[in-house]
Amino acid sequence: MDKSLIPEEAVKGLIIETLKARNIDIEDLEIEKLLTIAPEGKGDYAFPCFKLASIVKKKPVDIAKDLEKEILELRKKWPIIRNIKAENAYLNFFIDWDKVFRSVLLKEKNLPLPNLGDGKKILVEYSSPNANKPMHLGHLRNNALGESVSRLLESIGYKVVRTNLLNDRGLSVFQALLAYMLYGNDTTPETTGEKPDHFVGRFYVLYKEKEKEQPELEEEARKLLKRWENNDPQVRKLWERFVGWALQGFMETYEELGIRFDRIDYESQIYDKGKEIVRRAVEKGIFQKGEEGEIIAPLEKHALPNKVVLRSDETSLYITQDIYLAIKRYNEEKFYKLIYVVASEQDLHFKQLFTILNLLGHEWAQRLEHLSYGLVLLEGGKMKSREGRVVDADDIIQEMIDLALREINKRNPELGEKEKLERARKIGIGALNFYLLKFDPRKDFLYKPEEGISFEGETGPYLQYTYARLRSIIRKSGIDPLRIKINGSLGGEEEKIVKNLWLLRKTIIDSALRNDPSILAHELIHLAQLINNYYHSTPILKSREKEKRLLLIYIASNILAMAMKLLVMETLEEM
Ligand code: ARG
Repeated sequence: MDKSLIPEEAVKGLIIETLKARNIDIEDLEIEKLLTIAPEGKGDYAFPCFKLASIVKKKPVDIAKDLEKEILELRKKWPIIRNIKAENAYLNFFIDWDKVFRSVLLKEKNLPLPNLGDGKKILVEYSSPNANKPMHLGHLRNNALGESVSRLLESIGYKVVRTNLLNDRGLSVFQALLAYMLYGNDTTPETTGEKPDHFVGRFYVLYKEKEKEQPELEEEARKLLKRWENNDPQVRKLWERFVGWALQGFMETYEELGIRFDRIDYESQIYDKGKEIVRRAVEKGIFQKGEEGEIIAPLEKHALPNKVVLRSDETSLYITQDIYLAIKRYNEEKFYKLIYVVASEQDLHFKQLFTILNLLGHEWAQRLEHLSYGLVLLEGGKMKSREGRVVDADDIIQEMIDLALREINKRNPELGEKEKLERARKIGIGALNFYLLKFDPRKDFLYKPEEGISFEGETGPYLQYTYARLRSIIRKSGIDPLRIKINGSLGGEEEKIVKNLWLLRKTIIDSALRNDPSILAHELIHLAQLINNYYHSTPILKSREKEKRLLLIYIASNILAMAMKLLVMETLEEM
Protein backbone atom coordinates (compact mmCIF):
# COMPACT_ATOMS: atom_id res chain seq x y z
CA MET A 1 0.00 0.00 0.00
CA ASP A 2 1.32 3.41 -1.03
CA LYS A 3 2.19 5.13 2.21
CA SER A 4 1.26 8.58 0.99
CA LEU A 5 -2.35 7.37 0.85
CA ILE A 6 -2.41 6.46 4.55
CA PRO A 7 -3.56 9.60 6.39
CA GLU A 8 -1.27 9.30 9.42
CA GLU A 9 1.70 8.52 7.20
CA ALA A 10 0.95 11.44 4.91
CA VAL A 11 0.66 13.87 7.81
CA LYS A 12 3.89 12.58 9.27
CA GLY A 13 5.64 12.72 5.92
CA LEU A 14 4.53 16.26 5.32
CA ILE A 15 5.70 17.44 8.73
CA ILE A 16 9.09 15.81 8.31
CA GLU A 17 9.53 17.34 4.88
CA THR A 18 8.66 20.79 6.13
CA LEU A 19 11.04 20.56 9.05
CA LYS A 20 13.83 19.22 6.88
CA ALA A 21 13.39 22.11 4.47
CA ARG A 22 14.02 24.32 7.45
CA ASN A 23 16.98 22.33 8.67
CA ILE A 24 15.25 21.56 11.91
CA ASP A 25 16.64 18.53 13.66
CA ILE A 26 13.81 16.04 13.99
CA GLU A 27 15.76 13.16 15.47
CA ASP A 28 14.15 13.41 18.90
CA LEU A 29 10.76 14.43 17.71
CA GLU A 30 8.47 11.41 17.82
CA ILE A 31 5.88 12.74 15.44
CA GLU A 32 3.78 9.62 15.48
CA LYS A 33 3.39 9.67 19.21
CA LEU A 34 2.64 13.39 19.30
CA LEU A 35 -0.04 13.26 16.64
CA THR A 36 -3.55 13.32 18.08
CA ILE A 37 -7.09 13.30 16.78
CA ALA A 38 -8.29 16.88 16.34
CA PRO A 39 -11.36 17.99 18.26
CA GLU A 40 -14.65 18.01 16.35
CA GLY A 41 -14.75 20.76 13.72
CA LYS A 42 -11.02 21.51 13.87
CA GLY A 43 -9.81 19.11 11.24
CA ASP A 44 -8.83 15.50 11.63
CA TYR A 45 -5.33 15.25 13.05
CA ALA A 46 -3.63 17.75 15.28
CA PHE A 47 0.09 18.18 15.74
CA PRO A 48 1.04 19.95 18.98
CA CYS A 49 4.08 22.17 18.55
CA PHE A 50 5.28 22.31 22.17
CA LYS A 51 8.16 19.94 21.81
CA LEU A 52 9.16 21.42 18.52
CA ALA A 53 9.07 24.88 20.11
CA SER A 54 11.54 23.81 22.75
CA ILE A 55 13.90 22.48 20.06
CA VAL A 56 13.84 25.68 18.01
CA LYS A 57 13.50 27.93 21.04
CA LYS A 58 10.37 29.74 19.99
CA LYS A 59 6.89 30.07 21.37
CA PRO A 60 4.65 27.16 20.30
CA VAL A 61 2.05 29.57 18.93
CA ASP A 62 4.66 31.30 16.83
CA ILE A 63 6.21 28.19 15.40
CA ALA A 64 2.78 26.85 14.45
CA LYS A 65 1.90 30.04 12.61
CA ASP A 66 5.37 30.12 11.11
CA LEU A 67 5.14 26.67 9.65
CA GLU A 68 1.61 26.97 8.36
CA LYS A 69 2.56 28.73 5.15
CA GLU A 70 5.38 26.42 4.19
CA ILE A 71 3.45 23.35 5.00
CA LEU A 72 0.64 24.57 2.76
CA GLU A 73 3.13 24.96 -0.04
CA LEU A 74 4.48 21.45 0.31
CA ARG A 75 1.02 19.96 0.72
CA LYS A 76 0.52 19.58 -3.01
CA LYS A 77 2.67 16.48 -2.98
CA TRP A 78 0.32 14.85 -0.51
CA PRO A 79 -3.02 14.74 -2.24
CA ILE A 80 -4.97 13.22 0.62
CA ILE A 81 -4.25 16.23 2.81
CA ARG A 82 -6.87 18.81 2.01
CA ASN A 83 -5.80 21.66 4.21
CA ILE A 84 -3.68 22.69 7.18
CA LYS A 85 -4.49 25.38 9.71
CA ALA A 86 -2.47 26.72 12.58
CA GLU A 87 -4.55 27.17 15.68
CA ASN A 88 -2.84 28.25 18.87
CA ALA A 89 -0.02 25.81 19.45
CA TYR A 90 -1.38 23.28 17.04
CA LEU A 91 -1.18 22.49 13.37
CA ASN A 92 -4.49 20.97 12.34
CA PHE A 93 -4.68 18.72 9.32
CA PHE A 94 -7.79 18.22 7.22
CA ILE A 95 -7.95 14.92 5.37
CA ASP A 96 -9.66 14.29 2.08
CA TRP A 97 -11.75 11.33 3.22
CA ASP A 98 -13.34 10.95 -0.15
CA LYS A 99 -9.91 10.19 -1.53
CA VAL A 100 -9.15 7.78 1.29
CA PHE A 101 -12.36 6.01 0.47
CA ARG A 102 -11.61 5.70 -3.23
CA SER A 103 -7.91 5.05 -3.17
CA VAL A 104 -7.63 2.87 -0.09
CA LEU A 105 -10.86 1.38 1.23
CA LEU A 106 -12.36 0.59 -2.16
CA LYS A 107 -9.13 -1.00 -3.33
CA GLU A 108 -8.84 -3.17 -0.26
CA LYS A 109 -12.59 -3.62 0.18
CA ASN A 110 -11.75 -3.38 3.84
CA LEU A 111 -9.59 -1.51 6.29
CA PRO A 112 -5.90 -2.21 5.68
CA LEU A 113 -4.08 -2.85 8.94
CA PRO A 114 -0.35 -2.23 9.33
CA ASN A 115 2.03 -5.14 9.66
CA LEU A 116 3.50 -4.07 12.97
CA GLY A 117 4.32 -7.58 14.13
CA ASP A 118 6.26 -8.54 11.05
CA GLY A 119 5.69 -12.21 11.81
CA LYS A 120 7.16 -12.04 15.30
CA LYS A 121 5.88 -14.88 17.44
CA ILE A 122 3.70 -14.30 20.48
CA LEU A 123 2.56 -17.11 22.75
CA VAL A 124 -0.78 -16.37 24.33
CA GLU A 125 -1.49 -18.70 27.21
CA TYR A 126 -5.13 -18.73 28.10
CA SER A 127 -7.95 -20.83 29.48
CA SER A 128 -5.68 -23.22 31.45
CA PRO A 129 -8.40 -25.04 33.40
CA ASN A 130 -7.91 -27.51 36.21
CA ALA A 131 -8.87 -31.03 35.20
CA ASN A 132 -11.10 -31.78 38.19
CA LYS A 133 -14.25 -29.98 37.08
CA PRO A 134 -15.85 -28.20 34.14
CA MET A 135 -14.99 -24.63 33.24
CA HIS A 136 -16.93 -21.84 34.92
CA LEU A 137 -17.97 -18.27 34.17
CA GLY A 138 -14.47 -16.94 34.91
CA HIS A 139 -13.04 -19.21 32.21
CA LEU A 140 -15.49 -17.74 29.74
CA ARG A 141 -14.05 -14.30 30.38
CA ASN A 142 -10.58 -15.76 30.14
CA ASN A 143 -11.35 -17.57 26.88
CA ALA A 144 -12.93 -14.50 25.32
CA LEU A 145 -9.97 -12.31 26.30
CA GLY A 146 -7.34 -14.81 25.21
CA GLU A 147 -8.94 -15.48 21.87
CA SER A 148 -9.70 -11.83 21.17
CA VAL A 149 -6.18 -10.68 22.03
CA SER A 150 -4.82 -13.48 19.82
CA ARG A 151 -6.94 -12.34 16.89
CA LEU A 152 -6.07 -8.69 17.47
CA LEU A 153 -2.35 -9.43 17.47
CA GLU A 154 -2.67 -11.55 14.34
CA SER A 155 -4.53 -8.75 12.61
CA ILE A 156 -1.50 -6.49 12.91
CA GLY A 157 0.98 -9.07 11.73
CA TYR A 158 2.09 -11.11 14.72
CA LYS A 159 2.22 -14.87 14.59
CA VAL A 160 0.23 -16.12 17.54
CA VAL A 161 0.60 -19.51 19.18
CA ARG A 162 -2.51 -20.16 21.23
CA THR A 163 -1.35 -22.08 24.24
CA ASN A 164 -3.29 -23.88 26.94
CA LEU A 165 -1.90 -25.27 30.18
CA LEU A 166 -3.84 -28.22 31.49
CA ASN A 167 -3.47 -28.55 35.24
CA ASP A 168 -4.01 -32.28 35.37
CA ARG A 169 -2.22 -33.42 38.52
CA GLY A 170 -3.27 -31.20 41.40
CA LEU A 171 -4.58 -32.78 44.59
CA SER A 172 -8.12 -31.91 43.53
CA VAL A 173 -7.76 -34.11 40.46
CA PHE A 174 -6.89 -37.04 42.70
CA GLN A 175 -9.75 -36.23 45.05
CA ALA A 176 -12.15 -36.49 42.13
CA LEU A 177 -10.40 -39.64 40.95
CA LEU A 178 -10.64 -41.18 44.41
CA ALA A 179 -14.38 -40.59 44.50
CA TYR A 180 -14.64 -42.20 41.09
CA MET A 181 -12.70 -45.25 42.26
CA LEU A 182 -14.85 -45.57 45.37
CA TYR A 183 -18.27 -44.74 44.00
CA GLY A 184 -17.98 -44.79 40.22
CA ASN A 185 -18.93 -48.46 39.73
CA ASP A 186 -17.07 -48.52 36.44
CA THR A 187 -19.48 -46.07 34.87
CA THR A 188 -18.17 -43.81 32.11
CA PRO A 189 -19.47 -40.67 30.42
CA GLU A 190 -20.64 -42.93 27.63
CA THR A 191 -22.71 -45.10 29.95
CA THR A 192 -24.21 -42.16 31.83
CA GLY A 193 -24.55 -39.90 28.80
CA GLU A 194 -22.97 -36.94 30.56
CA LYS A 195 -20.63 -34.43 28.98
CA PRO A 196 -17.28 -35.92 29.99
CA ASP A 197 -15.95 -32.97 32.01
CA HIS A 198 -19.26 -32.78 33.85
CA PHE A 199 -18.93 -36.46 34.64
CA VAL A 200 -15.52 -35.76 36.17
CA GLY A 201 -16.83 -32.72 38.01
CA ARG A 202 -19.67 -34.72 39.55
CA PHE A 203 -17.12 -36.94 41.27
CA TYR A 204 -15.26 -33.92 42.55
CA VAL A 205 -18.46 -32.61 44.12
CA LEU A 206 -19.14 -36.07 45.49
CA TYR A 207 -15.68 -36.18 47.03
CA LYS A 208 -16.27 -32.84 48.75
CA GLU A 209 -19.50 -34.14 50.22
CA LYS A 210 -18.04 -37.40 51.43
CA GLU A 211 -15.01 -35.68 52.88
CA LYS A 212 -17.24 -33.84 55.32
CA GLU A 213 -18.21 -37.11 56.98
CA GLN A 214 -14.95 -38.92 56.31
CA PRO A 215 -12.06 -36.49 56.73
CA GLU A 216 -9.64 -39.40 56.32
CA LEU A 217 -10.44 -39.30 52.60
CA GLU A 218 -8.06 -36.41 52.21
CA GLU A 219 -5.16 -38.61 53.29
CA GLU A 220 -6.39 -41.26 50.85
CA ALA A 221 -6.31 -38.77 48.01
CA ARG A 222 -2.76 -37.76 48.93
CA LYS A 223 -1.74 -41.39 48.89
CA LEU A 224 -3.26 -41.74 45.45
CA LEU A 225 -1.24 -38.76 44.27
CA LYS A 226 1.92 -40.33 45.73
CA ARG A 227 1.19 -43.61 43.93
CA TRP A 228 0.75 -41.64 40.74
CA GLU A 229 4.06 -39.87 41.31
CA ASN A 230 5.70 -43.24 41.85
CA ASN A 231 4.39 -44.34 38.51
CA ASP A 232 2.01 -46.98 39.82
CA PRO A 233 0.74 -48.39 36.51
CA GLN A 234 -2.78 -49.03 37.76
CA VAL A 235 -3.25 -45.50 39.04
CA ARG A 236 -1.61 -44.02 35.98
CA LYS A 237 -3.96 -45.87 33.69
CA LEU A 238 -7.09 -44.84 35.54
CA TRP A 239 -5.88 -41.27 35.87
CA GLU A 240 -5.11 -41.03 32.19
CA ARG A 241 -8.61 -42.04 31.29
CA PHE A 242 -10.17 -39.76 33.87
CA VAL A 243 -8.18 -36.67 32.93
CA GLY A 244 -8.80 -37.51 29.28
CA TRP A 245 -12.51 -37.14 29.92
CA ALA A 246 -12.00 -33.71 31.43
CA LEU A 247 -9.95 -32.61 28.43
CA GLN A 248 -12.44 -34.06 25.99
CA GLY A 249 -15.20 -32.05 27.65
CA PHE A 250 -13.14 -28.85 27.53
CA MET A 251 -12.51 -29.42 23.83
CA GLU A 252 -16.24 -29.64 23.18
CA THR A 253 -16.74 -26.31 24.91
CA TYR A 254 -13.88 -24.71 22.98
CA GLU A 255 -15.36 -25.93 19.75
CA GLU A 256 -18.72 -24.40 20.64
CA LEU A 257 -16.92 -21.12 21.31
CA GLY A 258 -14.93 -21.28 18.08
CA ILE A 259 -11.59 -21.66 19.83
CA ARG A 260 -8.70 -23.89 18.89
CA PHE A 261 -5.31 -24.23 20.57
CA ASP A 262 -1.99 -24.66 18.81
CA ARG A 263 -0.18 -25.92 21.83
CA ILE A 264 -1.18 -27.65 25.05
CA ASP A 265 1.21 -28.00 27.95
CA TYR A 266 0.41 -30.59 30.58
CA GLU A 267 1.27 -29.97 34.19
CA SER A 268 1.80 -33.70 34.67
CA GLN A 269 4.69 -33.63 32.23
CA ILE A 270 6.55 -30.72 33.75
CA TYR A 271 5.60 -30.45 37.41
CA ASP A 272 8.76 -32.09 38.64
CA LYS A 273 11.30 -30.62 36.30
CA GLY A 274 12.07 -27.23 37.79
CA LYS A 275 14.32 -28.61 40.53
CA GLU A 276 17.45 -28.68 38.43
CA ILE A 277 17.06 -25.01 37.56
CA VAL A 278 16.56 -24.18 41.23
CA ARG A 279 19.66 -26.13 42.28
CA ARG A 280 21.84 -24.40 39.73
CA ALA A 281 20.54 -21.03 40.80
CA VAL A 282 21.49 -21.86 44.38
CA GLU A 283 25.02 -22.72 43.24
CA LYS A 284 25.25 -19.42 41.43
CA GLY A 285 24.06 -17.62 44.54
CA ILE A 286 20.88 -16.34 42.91
CA PHE A 287 18.61 -18.31 45.25
CA GLN A 288 19.30 -19.01 48.92
CA LYS A 289 18.72 -21.83 51.36
CA GLY A 290 16.24 -20.95 54.10
CA GLU A 291 16.36 -21.96 57.76
CA GLU A 292 14.38 -25.13 57.25
CA GLY A 293 16.21 -26.19 54.13
CA GLU A 294 13.69 -24.68 51.72
CA ILE A 295 14.99 -22.69 48.79
CA ILE A 296 14.12 -19.01 48.59
CA ALA A 297 14.26 -16.48 45.79
CA PRO A 298 15.22 -13.17 47.42
CA LEU A 299 12.94 -10.55 45.94
CA GLU A 300 12.92 -7.85 48.61
CA LYS A 301 15.28 -5.72 46.57
CA HIS A 302 12.64 -5.77 43.90
CA ALA A 303 9.93 -4.60 46.28
CA LEU A 304 8.31 -8.03 46.37
CA PRO A 305 8.01 -10.59 49.14
CA ASN A 306 10.62 -13.34 49.02
CA LYS A 307 9.40 -16.51 47.42
CA VAL A 308 9.92 -20.15 48.35
CA VAL A 309 10.73 -21.96 45.11
CA LEU A 310 11.40 -25.45 46.48
CA ARG A 311 10.10 -26.98 49.70
CA SER A 312 12.51 -28.50 52.21
CA ASP A 313 11.28 -31.98 51.24
CA GLU A 314 12.32 -31.07 47.67
CA THR A 315 8.80 -31.02 46.32
CA SER A 316 8.17 -28.36 43.76
CA LEU A 317 5.56 -25.63 43.97
CA TYR A 318 3.28 -23.82 41.56
CA ILE A 319 6.02 -21.29 40.87
CA THR A 320 8.70 -23.95 40.35
CA GLN A 321 6.60 -25.35 37.54
CA ASP A 322 6.03 -21.97 35.99
CA ILE A 323 9.75 -21.17 36.04
CA TYR A 324 10.50 -24.40 34.23
CA LEU A 325 7.59 -24.08 31.81
CA ALA A 326 8.49 -20.55 30.74
CA ILE A 327 12.06 -21.64 29.95
CA LYS A 328 10.85 -24.73 28.13
CA ARG A 329 8.43 -22.66 26.08
CA TYR A 330 11.14 -20.20 25.19
CA ASN A 331 13.56 -22.93 24.17
CA GLU A 332 10.96 -24.58 22.00
CA GLU A 333 9.25 -21.56 20.51
CA LYS A 334 11.79 -18.74 20.72
CA PHE A 335 8.88 -16.42 21.26
CA TYR A 336 9.12 -12.66 21.04
CA LYS A 337 6.52 -12.26 23.75
CA LEU A 338 4.54 -14.49 26.08
CA ILE A 339 1.23 -13.25 27.44
CA TYR A 340 -0.42 -15.05 30.34
CA VAL A 341 -4.17 -14.54 30.51
CA VAL A 342 -4.83 -15.28 34.17
CA ALA A 343 -7.16 -13.79 36.81
CA SER A 344 -5.96 -10.89 38.95
CA GLU A 345 -5.87 -13.15 42.01
CA GLN A 346 -2.51 -14.26 40.67
CA ASP A 347 -0.99 -10.80 40.20
CA LEU A 348 1.66 -11.37 42.84
CA HIS A 349 2.55 -14.79 41.47
CA PHE A 350 3.28 -13.38 38.05
CA LYS A 351 5.23 -10.40 39.38
CA GLN A 352 7.39 -12.81 41.31
CA LEU A 353 7.71 -15.21 38.40
CA PHE A 354 8.81 -12.50 35.96
CA THR A 355 11.29 -11.08 38.45
CA ILE A 356 12.75 -14.52 39.13
CA LEU A 357 13.16 -15.24 35.42
CA ASN A 358 14.93 -11.91 35.08
CA LEU A 359 17.20 -12.78 38.00
CA LEU A 360 18.01 -16.05 36.27
CA GLY A 361 19.35 -13.96 33.43
CA HIS A 362 16.78 -14.59 30.74
CA GLU A 363 16.72 -11.62 28.45
CA TRP A 364 13.25 -12.53 27.15
CA ALA A 365 11.79 -12.31 30.65
CA GLN A 366 11.35 -8.61 30.02
CA ARG A 367 8.83 -9.46 27.36
CA LEU A 368 6.56 -11.54 29.55
CA GLU A 369 3.16 -10.02 30.20
CA HIS A 370 0.33 -10.85 32.54
CA LEU A 371 -3.07 -10.00 31.14
CA SER A 372 -4.72 -9.80 34.51
CA TYR A 373 -8.49 -9.71 34.58
CA GLY A 374 -11.06 -9.10 37.28
CA LEU A 375 -13.86 -11.24 38.60
CA VAL A 376 -17.16 -11.86 36.96
CA LEU A 377 -19.67 -11.36 39.74
CA LEU A 378 -23.12 -12.78 39.92
CA GLU A 379 -26.01 -11.10 41.65
CA GLY A 380 -25.49 -11.89 45.31
CA GLY A 381 -21.70 -11.99 45.38
CA LYS A 382 -18.57 -13.66 44.16
CA MET A 383 -19.08 -16.62 41.91
CA LYS A 384 -18.32 -19.92 43.54
CA SER A 385 -18.82 -23.23 41.87
CA ARG A 386 -19.24 -25.16 45.10
CA GLU A 387 -22.36 -23.30 46.08
CA GLY A 388 -24.10 -25.02 43.23
CA ARG A 389 -25.19 -21.82 41.47
CA VAL A 390 -25.41 -21.57 37.71
CA VAL A 391 -21.85 -20.60 36.95
CA ASP A 392 -20.97 -23.56 34.81
CA ALA A 393 -19.58 -22.37 31.47
CA ASP A 394 -21.66 -24.77 29.38
CA ASP A 395 -24.84 -23.80 31.22
CA ILE A 396 -24.12 -20.15 30.66
CA ILE A 397 -23.49 -20.69 26.96
CA GLN A 398 -26.75 -22.62 26.71
CA GLU A 399 -28.61 -19.94 28.62
CA MET A 400 -27.41 -17.30 26.16
CA ILE A 401 -28.40 -19.45 23.19
CA ASP A 402 -31.85 -20.04 24.74
CA LEU A 403 -32.33 -16.33 25.33
CA ALA A 404 -31.37 -15.66 21.72
CA LEU A 405 -33.78 -18.33 20.54
CA ARG A 406 -36.58 -16.75 22.51
CA GLU A 407 -35.87 -13.44 20.80
CA ILE A 408 -35.79 -15.09 17.37
CA ASN A 409 -39.11 -16.82 18.02
CA LYS A 410 -40.60 -13.45 18.81
CA ARG A 411 -39.20 -11.73 15.74
CA ASN A 412 -39.18 -14.44 13.10
CA PRO A 413 -41.56 -17.21 14.15
CA GLU A 414 -41.84 -18.36 10.54
CA LEU A 415 -38.23 -19.54 10.24
CA GLY A 416 -37.36 -23.24 10.09
CA GLU A 417 -36.06 -24.93 13.23
CA LYS A 418 -32.58 -25.48 11.87
CA GLU A 419 -32.19 -21.88 10.76
CA LYS A 420 -33.48 -20.69 14.13
CA LEU A 421 -30.96 -22.78 16.01
CA GLU A 422 -28.11 -21.70 13.82
CA ARG A 423 -28.94 -18.05 14.32
CA ALA A 424 -29.47 -18.54 18.04
CA ARG A 425 -26.02 -20.02 18.35
CA LYS A 426 -24.32 -17.15 16.53
CA ILE A 427 -26.29 -14.52 18.40
CA GLY A 428 -26.01 -16.18 21.80
CA ILE A 429 -22.27 -16.76 21.65
CA GLY A 430 -21.60 -13.42 19.98
CA ALA A 431 -23.61 -11.69 22.69
CA LEU A 432 -21.75 -13.56 25.41
CA ASN A 433 -18.29 -12.81 24.05
CA PHE A 434 -19.05 -9.16 23.40
CA TYR A 435 -20.49 -8.80 26.89
CA LEU A 436 -17.41 -10.39 28.45
CA LEU A 437 -15.09 -8.20 26.41
CA LYS A 438 -16.73 -4.82 26.66
CA PHE A 439 -15.63 -4.18 30.23
CA ASP A 440 -12.13 -3.05 31.07
CA PRO A 441 -10.41 -6.42 31.61
CA ARG A 442 -8.90 -5.33 34.88
CA LYS A 443 -12.22 -4.51 36.47
CA ASP A 444 -14.76 -6.78 38.14
CA PHE A 445 -18.24 -6.64 36.71
CA LEU A 446 -21.70 -7.94 37.47
CA TYR A 447 -22.93 -10.51 34.99
CA LYS A 448 -26.56 -10.13 33.87
CA PRO A 449 -27.37 -12.40 30.92
CA GLU A 450 -30.44 -10.46 29.70
CA GLU A 451 -28.33 -7.34 29.48
CA GLY A 452 -25.88 -8.99 27.08
CA ILE A 453 -28.52 -10.42 24.79
CA SER A 454 -30.51 -7.22 24.26
CA PHE A 455 -30.73 -6.10 20.63
CA GLU A 456 -30.31 -2.51 21.69
CA GLY A 457 -27.66 -0.66 23.63
CA GLU A 458 -24.03 -1.65 23.87
CA THR A 459 -24.40 -5.28 22.94
CA GLY A 460 -23.15 -7.87 20.52
CA PRO A 461 -26.59 -8.42 18.96
CA TYR A 462 -26.78 -4.70 18.24
CA LEU A 463 -23.59 -4.97 16.19
CA GLN A 464 -24.81 -8.10 14.44
CA TYR A 465 -28.11 -6.40 13.75
CA THR A 466 -26.40 -3.36 12.24
CA TYR A 467 -24.35 -5.62 10.00
CA ALA A 468 -27.41 -7.61 8.91
CA ARG A 469 -29.28 -4.39 8.09
CA LEU A 470 -26.45 -3.21 5.87
CA ARG A 471 -26.38 -6.53 4.07
CA SER A 472 -30.11 -6.49 3.55
CA ILE A 473 -29.96 -3.05 1.95
CA ILE A 474 -27.35 -4.35 -0.46
CA ARG A 475 -29.43 -7.45 -1.20
CA LYS A 476 -32.54 -5.41 -1.84
CA SER A 477 -30.72 -3.18 -4.32
CA GLY A 478 -30.07 -6.18 -6.54
CA ILE A 479 -26.73 -4.63 -7.39
CA ASP A 480 -23.40 -6.34 -7.01
CA PRO A 481 -21.26 -3.81 -5.13
CA LEU A 482 -18.12 -5.14 -6.76
CA ARG A 483 -19.37 -3.98 -10.14
CA ILE A 484 -20.23 -0.44 -9.17
CA LYS A 485 -18.24 2.31 -10.82
CA ILE A 486 -18.35 5.22 -8.46
CA ASN A 487 -19.02 8.72 -9.73
CA GLY A 488 -19.51 11.89 -7.75
CA SER A 489 -17.89 12.45 -4.41
CA LEU A 490 -19.02 11.65 -0.89
CA GLY A 491 -21.08 14.09 1.12
CA GLY A 492 -20.16 15.43 4.53
CA GLU A 493 -22.02 12.80 6.52
CA GLU A 494 -20.45 10.10 4.38
CA GLU A 495 -16.98 11.48 4.81
CA LYS A 496 -17.57 11.41 8.53
CA ILE A 497 -18.36 7.72 8.32
CA VAL A 498 -15.22 7.08 6.29
CA LYS A 499 -13.20 8.96 8.87
CA ASN A 500 -14.65 6.89 11.68
CA LEU A 501 -14.12 3.69 9.77
CA TRP A 502 -10.54 4.74 9.27
CA LEU A 503 -9.98 5.60 12.91
CA LEU A 504 -10.93 2.05 13.83
CA ARG A 505 -7.47 1.19 12.62
CA LYS A 506 -5.81 3.01 15.47
CA THR A 507 -8.34 1.53 17.85
CA ILE A 508 -7.44 -1.98 16.73
CA ILE A 509 -3.73 -1.27 17.11
CA ASP A 510 -4.27 0.17 20.60
CA SER A 511 -6.46 -2.73 21.67
CA ALA A 512 -3.89 -5.23 20.43
CA LEU A 513 -0.83 -3.62 21.93
CA ARG A 514 -2.52 -2.92 25.24
CA ASN A 515 -4.13 -6.36 25.50
CA ASP A 516 -7.48 -4.67 25.86
CA PRO A 517 -10.36 -5.62 23.54
CA SER A 518 -12.72 -3.31 25.47
CA ILE A 519 -11.25 -0.35 23.59
CA LEU A 520 -12.37 -1.87 20.31
CA ALA A 521 -15.72 -3.00 21.72
CA HIS A 522 -16.49 0.53 22.80
CA GLU A 523 -15.51 2.18 19.53
CA LEU A 524 -17.35 -0.39 17.49
CA ILE A 525 -20.62 0.47 19.20
CA HIS A 526 -20.01 4.12 18.46
CA LEU A 527 -19.34 3.31 14.82
CA ALA A 528 -22.45 1.14 14.53
CA GLN A 529 -24.56 3.97 15.94
CA LEU A 530 -23.15 6.35 13.40
CA ILE A 531 -23.89 3.97 10.54
CA ASN A 532 -27.36 3.24 11.87
CA ASN A 533 -28.13 6.93 11.99
CA TYR A 534 -26.85 7.29 8.47
CA TYR A 535 -29.08 4.77 6.80
CA HIS A 536 -32.07 5.84 8.86
CA SER A 537 -31.73 9.47 7.88
CA THR A 538 -30.42 9.12 4.33
CA PRO A 539 -32.38 7.65 1.46
CA ILE A 540 -30.29 5.01 -0.21
CA LEU A 541 -32.14 2.83 -2.67
CA LYS A 542 -34.37 5.68 -3.81
CA SER A 543 -31.60 8.17 -4.11
CA ARG A 544 -29.83 9.28 -7.26
CA GLU A 545 -26.62 8.65 -5.39
CA LYS A 546 -27.66 5.10 -4.74
CA GLU A 547 -24.54 3.45 -6.06
CA LYS A 548 -22.07 5.52 -4.16
CA ARG A 549 -24.05 5.01 -0.97
CA LEU A 550 -24.32 1.31 -1.55
CA LEU A 551 -20.58 1.09 -1.90
CA LEU A 552 -20.08 2.93 1.36
CA ILE A 553 -22.49 0.57 3.07
CA TYR A 554 -20.75 -2.40 1.56
CA ILE A 555 -17.32 -1.29 2.76
CA ALA A 556 -18.72 -0.45 6.19
CA SER A 557 -20.27 -3.90 6.49
CA ASN A 558 -16.96 -5.56 5.60
CA ILE A 559 -15.11 -3.53 8.18
CA LEU A 560 -17.76 -4.22 10.81
CA ALA A 561 -17.48 -7.95 10.13
CA MET A 562 -13.70 -7.86 10.34
CA ALA A 563 -13.80 -6.01 13.65
CA MET A 564 -16.51 -8.25 15.11
CA LYS A 565 -14.39 -11.25 14.32
CA LEU A 566 -11.64 -9.69 16.40
CA LEU A 567 -14.11 -9.74 19.27
CA VAL A 568 -14.83 -13.42 18.70
CA MET A 569 -18.22 -12.82 17.13
CA GLU A 570 -19.75 -14.21 14.00
CA THR A 571 -21.97 -12.26 11.63
CA LEU A 572 -25.42 -13.09 10.27
CA GLU A 573 -26.65 -12.05 6.86
CA GLU A 574 -30.21 -11.76 8.15
CA MET A 575 -31.49 -11.11 11.61
N1 ARG B 1 -4.98 -23.62 36.29
C1 ARG B 1 -4.63 -22.45 37.02
C2 ARG B 1 -5.85 -21.98 37.81
O1 ARG B 1 -6.95 -22.31 37.46
C3 ARG B 1 -4.17 -21.32 36.15
C4 ARG B 1 -2.88 -21.55 35.45
C5 ARG B 1 -2.33 -20.28 34.92
N2 ARG B 1 -1.15 -20.45 34.15
C6 ARG B 1 0.10 -20.54 34.62
N3 ARG B 1 1.06 -20.70 33.76
N4 ARG B 1 0.35 -20.47 35.91
O2 ARG B 1 -5.69 -21.25 38.78
